[in-house]
Amino acid sequence: MYILGIESSCDETAAAVVEDGRRLVSNVIATSVAEQALYGGVVPEIASRRHAEYISATVEKALADAGLTADQLDGIAVTFAPGLIGAVLVGVNFAKGLAYAAQKPLVPVHHLRGHIAALYLSHPDLKPPFLCLVASGGHSHIVQVEDYTHFKVLGRTVDDAAGEAFDKVARTLGLGYPGGPAISKAAKEGDPKAYKLPVPHVEGRYNVSFSGLKTAVLNAVNQAEMKGETISVPDMAASFERRIDEILAQKLLLAAQDTGADTICLAGGVAANGLLRSLVNEGAQKLGARLCLPEIRFCGDNGAMIAAQGFYELQSGNVADLTLNGLPTLPIDYNTQPG
Ligand code: KG4
Ligand code: ZN
Repeated sequence: MYILGIESSCDETAAAVVEDGRRLVSNVIATSVAEQALYGGVVPEIASRRHAEYISATVEKALADAGLTADQLDGIAVTFAPGLIGAVLVGVNFAKGLAYAAQKPLVPVHHLRGHIAALYLSHPDLKPPFLCLVASGGHSHIVQVEDYTHFKVLGRTVDDAAGEAFDKVARTLGLGYPGGPAISKAAKEGDPKAYKLPVPHVEGRYNVSFSGLKTAVLNAVNQAEMKGETISVPDMAASFERRIDEILAQKLLLAAQDTGADTICLAGGVAANGLLRSLVNEGAQKLGARLCLPEIRFCGDNGAMIAAQGFYELQSGNVADLTLNGLPTLPIDYNTQPG
Protein backbone atom coordinates (compact mmCIF):
# COMPACT_ATOMS: atom_id res chain seq x y z
CA MET A 1 0.00 0.00 0.00
CA TYR A 2 1.43 3.36 -1.06
CA ILE A 3 0.70 6.33 1.21
CA LEU A 4 1.66 9.90 0.41
CA GLY A 5 2.49 11.89 3.57
CA ILE A 6 2.29 15.67 3.66
CA GLU A 7 3.75 17.74 6.52
CA SER A 8 3.55 21.52 6.96
CA SER A 9 3.06 22.16 10.69
CA CYS A 10 6.17 24.27 11.29
CA ASP A 11 8.94 25.42 8.95
CA GLU A 12 9.41 22.31 6.81
CA THR A 13 7.23 21.74 3.73
CA ALA A 14 7.60 18.01 3.25
CA ALA A 15 6.12 15.17 1.24
CA ALA A 16 7.06 11.51 0.95
CA VAL A 17 5.77 8.18 -0.25
CA VAL A 18 6.03 5.15 2.06
CA GLU A 19 5.01 1.59 1.26
CA ASP A 20 3.13 -0.38 3.93
CA GLY A 21 4.15 2.05 6.69
CA ARG A 22 7.75 0.82 6.60
CA ARG A 23 9.57 1.22 3.29
CA LEU A 24 10.67 4.68 2.20
CA VAL A 25 9.97 5.21 -1.50
CA SER A 26 10.61 8.96 -1.80
CA ASN A 27 11.25 11.83 0.60
CA VAL A 28 11.31 15.54 -0.25
CA ILE A 29 11.82 18.41 2.21
CA ALA A 30 11.77 22.14 1.45
CA THR A 31 12.54 24.31 4.46
CA SER A 32 12.35 27.99 5.34
CA VAL A 33 14.75 27.47 8.28
CA ALA A 34 17.49 29.74 6.88
CA GLU A 35 15.02 32.59 6.49
CA GLN A 36 13.53 31.93 9.94
CA ALA A 37 17.06 32.00 11.41
CA LEU A 38 17.32 35.68 10.41
CA TYR A 39 14.56 36.36 12.96
CA GLY A 40 15.92 34.03 15.66
CA GLY A 41 12.96 31.64 15.46
CA VAL A 42 9.96 30.64 13.38
CA VAL A 43 7.79 33.57 12.24
CA PRO A 44 4.40 31.89 11.65
CA GLU A 45 3.31 34.09 8.76
CA ILE A 46 6.57 33.55 6.89
CA ALA A 47 6.22 29.80 7.44
CA SER A 48 2.66 29.81 6.03
CA ARG A 49 3.64 31.83 2.97
CA ARG A 50 6.60 29.58 2.17
CA HIS A 51 4.41 26.47 2.52
CA ALA A 52 1.96 28.01 0.04
CA GLU A 53 4.83 28.57 -2.40
CA TYR A 54 6.61 25.23 -1.95
CA ILE A 55 3.86 22.70 -1.47
CA SER A 56 2.89 21.91 -5.08
CA ALA A 57 6.46 21.35 -6.24
CA THR A 58 7.30 19.36 -3.09
CA VAL A 59 4.39 16.94 -3.55
CA GLU A 60 5.00 16.68 -7.31
CA LYS A 61 8.64 15.78 -6.69
CA ALA A 62 7.74 13.20 -4.04
CA LEU A 63 5.41 11.49 -6.54
CA ALA A 64 7.89 11.81 -9.42
CA ASP A 65 10.77 10.39 -7.32
CA ALA A 66 8.51 7.49 -6.37
CA GLY A 67 7.62 6.97 -10.05
CA LEU A 68 3.94 7.12 -9.13
CA THR A 69 0.93 9.20 -10.06
CA ALA A 70 -1.73 10.20 -7.55
CA ASP A 71 -4.00 7.52 -9.09
CA GLN A 72 -1.63 4.82 -7.88
CA LEU A 73 -1.71 5.93 -4.24
CA ASP A 74 -3.79 4.15 -1.63
CA GLY A 75 -4.19 7.16 0.63
CA ILE A 76 -3.17 10.76 1.24
CA ALA A 77 -2.04 11.41 4.80
CA VAL A 78 -1.56 14.89 6.19
CA THR A 79 -0.58 16.50 9.49
CA PHE A 80 -3.78 18.13 10.75
CA ALA A 81 -2.65 18.87 14.35
CA PRO A 82 -0.92 20.21 16.35
CA GLY A 83 1.12 23.04 14.85
CA LEU A 84 1.16 26.63 13.66
CA ILE A 85 -2.37 26.84 12.37
CA GLY A 86 -1.72 28.91 9.25
CA ALA A 87 1.04 26.47 8.34
CA VAL A 88 -1.00 23.33 9.08
CA LEU A 89 -3.90 24.58 6.95
CA VAL A 90 -1.73 24.84 3.84
CA GLY A 91 -0.97 21.11 3.99
CA VAL A 92 -4.51 20.15 4.97
CA ASN A 93 -6.08 22.07 2.10
CA PHE A 94 -3.57 20.78 -0.43
CA ALA A 95 -4.18 17.21 0.73
CA LYS A 96 -7.93 17.71 0.49
CA GLY A 97 -7.67 18.99 -3.08
CA LEU A 98 -5.49 16.05 -4.09
CA ALA A 99 -7.69 13.50 -2.31
CA TYR A 100 -10.76 14.96 -4.03
CA ALA A 101 -9.15 15.05 -7.47
CA ALA A 102 -7.71 11.54 -7.24
CA GLN A 103 -10.66 10.11 -5.28
CA LYS A 104 -8.41 8.67 -2.56
CA PRO A 105 -8.89 8.35 1.21
CA LEU A 106 -7.83 11.44 3.16
CA VAL A 107 -6.01 10.38 6.35
CA PRO A 108 -5.54 12.90 9.18
CA VAL A 109 -2.30 12.38 11.13
CA HIS A 110 -1.34 13.79 14.53
CA HIS A 111 2.15 15.30 14.20
CA LEU A 112 3.57 13.62 17.33
CA ARG A 113 2.22 10.24 16.27
CA GLY A 114 4.12 10.89 13.06
CA HIS A 115 7.36 11.51 14.97
CA ILE A 116 6.88 8.15 16.70
CA ALA A 117 6.14 6.42 13.37
CA ALA A 118 9.53 7.63 12.06
CA LEU A 119 10.89 4.76 14.15
CA TYR A 120 9.09 2.20 11.96
CA LEU A 121 11.12 3.41 8.96
CA SER A 122 14.42 2.69 10.70
CA HIS A 123 13.43 -0.46 12.61
CA PRO A 124 11.40 -2.82 10.41
CA ASP A 125 10.72 -5.21 13.31
CA LEU A 126 9.69 -2.57 15.88
CA LYS A 127 6.11 -3.05 16.97
CA PRO A 128 4.09 -1.55 19.84
CA PRO A 129 3.96 -1.75 22.79
CA PHE A 130 7.00 0.37 23.61
CA LEU A 131 7.89 3.43 25.66
CA CYS A 132 8.88 6.60 23.82
CA LEU A 133 10.17 10.04 24.70
CA VAL A 134 8.86 12.44 22.05
CA ALA A 135 10.81 15.69 22.31
CA SER A 136 10.39 18.42 19.72
CA GLY A 137 10.23 22.21 19.50
CA GLY A 138 6.69 22.26 20.83
CA HIS A 139 6.30 19.11 22.95
CA SER A 140 8.06 16.83 25.42
CA HIS A 141 6.04 13.74 26.24
CA ILE A 142 6.84 10.37 27.75
CA VAL A 143 4.36 8.14 25.96
CA GLN A 144 3.37 4.54 26.23
CA VAL A 145 2.68 3.44 22.67
CA GLU A 146 0.05 0.77 23.31
CA ASP A 147 -0.58 0.01 19.67
CA TYR A 148 -0.18 1.94 16.40
CA THR A 149 -3.07 4.30 17.13
CA HIS A 150 -3.42 4.15 20.92
CA PHE A 151 -1.21 6.15 23.22
CA LYS A 152 -1.00 6.87 26.92
CA VAL A 153 0.86 9.96 28.11
CA LEU A 154 2.77 9.17 31.31
CA GLY A 155 4.59 12.49 31.65
CA ARG A 156 5.02 15.82 29.94
CA THR A 157 6.69 19.18 30.31
CA VAL A 158 4.82 21.54 32.61
CA ASP A 159 6.26 24.59 30.81
CA ASP A 160 8.76 24.80 27.93
CA ALA A 161 9.33 21.93 25.52
CA ALA A 162 12.87 20.53 25.38
CA GLY A 163 13.52 21.87 21.86
CA GLU A 164 12.13 25.24 22.86
CA ALA A 165 14.56 25.32 25.82
CA PHE A 166 17.47 24.52 23.48
CA ASP A 167 16.30 27.28 21.12
CA LYS A 168 15.88 29.90 23.87
CA VAL A 169 19.20 29.15 25.57
CA ALA A 170 20.95 29.22 22.19
CA ARG A 171 19.48 32.65 21.58
CA THR A 172 20.67 33.84 25.03
CA LEU A 173 24.16 32.59 24.19
CA GLY A 174 24.11 34.20 20.74
CA LEU A 175 24.26 30.82 19.00
CA GLY A 176 21.42 31.28 16.51
CA TYR A 177 18.48 29.16 15.37
CA PRO A 178 17.77 26.24 15.45
CA GLY A 179 19.29 26.03 18.90
CA GLY A 180 19.69 22.28 19.41
CA PRO A 181 22.40 21.62 16.82
CA ALA A 182 24.10 24.95 17.64
CA ILE A 183 24.31 24.11 21.36
CA SER A 184 25.62 20.61 20.66
CA LYS A 185 28.32 22.01 18.39
CA ALA A 186 29.43 24.66 20.90
CA ALA A 187 29.27 22.12 23.75
CA LYS A 188 31.91 19.93 22.07
CA GLU A 189 34.55 22.49 23.07
CA GLY A 190 33.14 23.05 26.57
CA ASP A 191 33.26 21.59 30.06
CA PRO A 192 29.84 20.30 31.21
CA LYS A 193 30.88 20.72 34.86
CA ALA A 194 31.82 24.39 34.49
CA TYR A 195 28.44 25.81 35.52
CA LYS A 196 26.17 24.35 38.19
CA LEU A 197 22.68 24.54 36.74
CA PRO A 198 19.63 23.62 38.84
CA VAL A 199 17.59 20.43 38.62
CA PRO A 200 14.05 21.83 38.54
CA HIS A 201 11.53 20.45 40.99
CA VAL A 202 8.32 19.35 39.30
CA GLU A 203 5.08 17.74 40.41
CA GLY A 204 4.35 14.40 38.76
CA ARG A 205 6.75 11.48 38.69
CA TYR A 206 7.42 11.61 34.95
CA ASN A 207 6.87 15.31 34.29
CA VAL A 208 9.69 17.66 33.34
CA SER A 209 10.18 21.41 33.60
CA PHE A 210 12.73 23.49 31.74
CA SER A 211 11.78 27.09 32.32
CA GLY A 212 13.85 27.35 35.55
CA LEU A 213 16.86 25.95 33.72
CA LYS A 214 16.45 28.46 30.92
CA THR A 215 16.13 31.31 33.46
CA ALA A 216 19.25 30.11 35.31
CA VAL A 217 21.28 30.44 32.10
CA LEU A 218 19.79 33.87 31.42
CA ASN A 219 20.58 35.03 34.97
CA ALA A 220 24.16 33.77 34.75
CA VAL A 221 24.66 35.64 31.47
CA ASN A 222 23.10 38.86 32.82
CA GLN A 223 25.08 38.73 36.07
CA ALA A 224 28.33 38.21 34.21
CA GLU A 225 27.51 41.17 31.98
CA MET A 226 26.77 43.40 34.98
CA LYS A 227 30.08 42.49 36.56
CA GLY A 228 31.87 43.14 33.28
CA GLU A 229 32.82 39.46 33.03
CA THR A 230 32.31 37.18 30.07
CA ILE A 231 30.63 33.85 30.12
CA SER A 232 32.29 30.92 28.37
CA VAL A 233 29.77 30.01 25.69
CA PRO A 234 31.15 26.49 25.11
CA ASP A 235 31.18 25.78 28.88
CA MET A 236 27.63 27.08 29.34
CA ALA A 237 26.40 25.21 26.25
CA ALA A 238 27.99 22.00 27.56
CA SER A 239 26.62 22.50 31.10
CA PHE A 240 23.11 23.21 29.80
CA GLU A 241 23.13 20.33 27.31
CA ARG A 242 24.26 17.87 29.95
CA ARG A 243 21.69 19.05 32.49
CA ILE A 244 18.69 18.97 30.13
CA ASP A 245 19.71 15.64 28.60
CA GLU A 246 20.21 14.12 32.04
CA ILE A 247 16.72 15.20 33.08
CA LEU A 248 15.13 13.79 29.91
CA ALA A 249 17.06 10.52 30.11
CA GLN A 250 16.41 10.03 33.84
CA LYS A 251 12.66 10.56 33.51
CA LEU A 252 12.39 8.24 30.52
CA LEU A 253 14.43 5.53 32.23
CA LEU A 254 12.44 5.90 35.44
CA ALA A 255 9.22 5.38 33.48
CA ALA A 256 10.81 2.40 31.73
CA GLN A 257 11.82 0.86 35.04
CA ASP A 258 8.41 1.44 36.66
CA THR A 259 6.45 0.05 33.73
CA GLY A 260 8.87 -2.79 33.00
CA ALA A 261 9.16 -1.63 29.37
CA ASP A 262 11.31 -3.95 27.31
CA THR A 263 11.68 -1.48 24.44
CA ILE A 264 12.59 2.20 24.81
CA CYS A 265 12.57 4.77 22.00
CA LEU A 266 13.32 8.40 21.28
CA ALA A 267 11.50 10.54 18.70
CA GLY A 268 11.24 14.17 17.55
CA GLY A 269 13.81 16.82 16.66
CA VAL A 270 15.60 16.58 20.01
CA ALA A 271 16.14 12.83 19.43
CA ALA A 272 18.97 13.92 17.11
CA ASN A 273 20.95 15.02 20.16
CA GLY A 274 24.05 12.83 20.44
CA LEU A 275 24.47 13.14 24.21
CA LEU A 276 20.80 12.30 24.84
CA ARG A 277 21.12 9.26 22.59
CA SER A 278 24.18 8.02 24.48
CA LEU A 279 22.73 8.66 27.96
CA VAL A 280 19.56 6.74 27.07
CA ASN A 281 21.65 4.00 25.50
CA GLU A 282 23.66 3.54 28.72
CA GLY A 283 20.48 3.49 30.80
CA ALA A 284 18.69 1.04 28.51
CA GLN A 285 21.64 -1.33 28.68
CA LYS A 286 21.55 -1.24 32.49
CA LEU A 287 17.83 -2.06 32.41
CA GLY A 288 18.36 -4.79 29.84
CA ALA A 289 15.88 -3.05 27.52
CA ARG A 290 16.09 -2.73 23.75
CA LEU A 291 16.73 0.82 22.54
CA CYS A 292 15.41 2.01 19.15
CA LEU A 293 16.52 5.39 17.83
CA PRO A 294 15.26 7.10 14.69
CA GLU A 295 17.81 7.79 11.96
CA ILE A 296 18.97 11.41 12.22
CA ARG A 297 17.29 12.25 8.88
CA PHE A 298 13.91 11.20 10.34
CA CYS A 299 14.23 13.05 13.68
CA GLY A 300 13.23 16.47 12.35
CA ASP A 301 9.95 17.11 10.54
CA ASN A 302 9.45 15.10 7.36
CA GLY A 303 6.68 13.66 5.22
CA ALA A 304 7.85 10.04 5.56
CA MET A 305 6.86 9.88 9.22
CA ILE A 306 3.39 11.20 8.32
CA ALA A 307 3.03 8.62 5.55
CA ALA A 308 4.18 5.83 7.92
CA GLN A 309 1.65 6.79 10.59
CA GLY A 310 -0.95 7.42 7.87
CA PHE A 311 -0.70 3.76 6.87
CA TYR A 312 -1.62 2.63 10.39
CA GLU A 313 -4.36 5.28 10.80
CA LEU A 314 -5.88 4.10 7.52
CA GLN A 315 -5.68 0.48 8.64
CA SER A 316 -7.65 1.36 11.75
CA GLY A 317 -10.25 3.28 9.76
CA ASN A 318 -9.22 6.84 10.63
CA VAL A 319 -10.31 8.57 7.44
CA ALA A 320 -11.53 12.17 7.17
CA ASP A 321 -14.01 13.78 4.78
CA LEU A 322 -13.46 17.05 2.97
CA THR A 323 -14.61 19.09 5.99
CA LEU A 324 -11.30 18.20 7.74
CA ASN A 325 -9.95 21.20 9.64
CA GLY A 326 -6.52 21.88 11.12
CA LEU A 327 -6.06 22.24 14.87
CA PRO A 328 -3.31 24.20 16.67
CA THR A 329 -3.44 21.84 19.67
CA LEU A 330 -4.67 18.30 20.17
CA PRO A 331 -3.58 15.64 22.68
CA ILE A 332 -1.76 12.65 21.17
CA ASP A 333 -4.31 10.30 22.78
CA TYR A 334 -7.27 12.20 21.27
CA ASN A 335 -9.23 9.12 20.26
CA THR A 336 -8.73 7.33 23.56
CA GLN A 337 -9.73 10.18 25.85
CA PRO A 338 -13.13 10.07 27.53
CA GLY A 339 -15.74 12.28 25.80
O1 KG4 B 1 10.49 17.82 15.70
P1 KG4 B 1 11.04 19.08 15.21
O2 KG4 B 1 11.86 19.09 13.94
O3 KG4 B 1 9.92 20.16 14.98
C1 KG4 B 1 8.84 20.29 15.87
O4 KG4 B 1 7.90 19.48 15.75
O5 KG4 B 1 8.95 21.19 16.73
O6 KG4 B 1 11.91 19.67 16.40
C2 KG4 B 1 12.59 20.88 16.28
C3 KG4 B 1 13.35 21.10 17.57
C4 KG4 B 1 14.02 22.46 17.63
O7 KG4 B 1 13.69 23.07 18.87
C5 KG4 B 1 15.50 22.13 17.55
O8 KG4 B 1 16.34 23.03 18.26
C6 KG4 B 1 15.54 20.75 18.18
O9 KG4 B 1 14.39 20.11 17.71
N1 KG4 B 1 16.74 20.00 17.74
C7 KG4 B 1 17.68 19.57 18.62
C8 KG4 B 1 18.69 18.96 17.83
N2 KG4 B 1 18.32 19.05 16.51
C9 KG4 B 1 17.11 19.68 16.49
N3 KG4 B 1 17.76 19.67 19.96
C10 KG4 B 1 18.86 19.15 20.55
N4 KG4 B 1 19.87 18.59 19.86
C11 KG4 B 1 19.84 18.47 18.51
N5 KG4 B 1 20.85 17.89 17.86
ZN1 ZN C 1 7.95 17.97 14.68
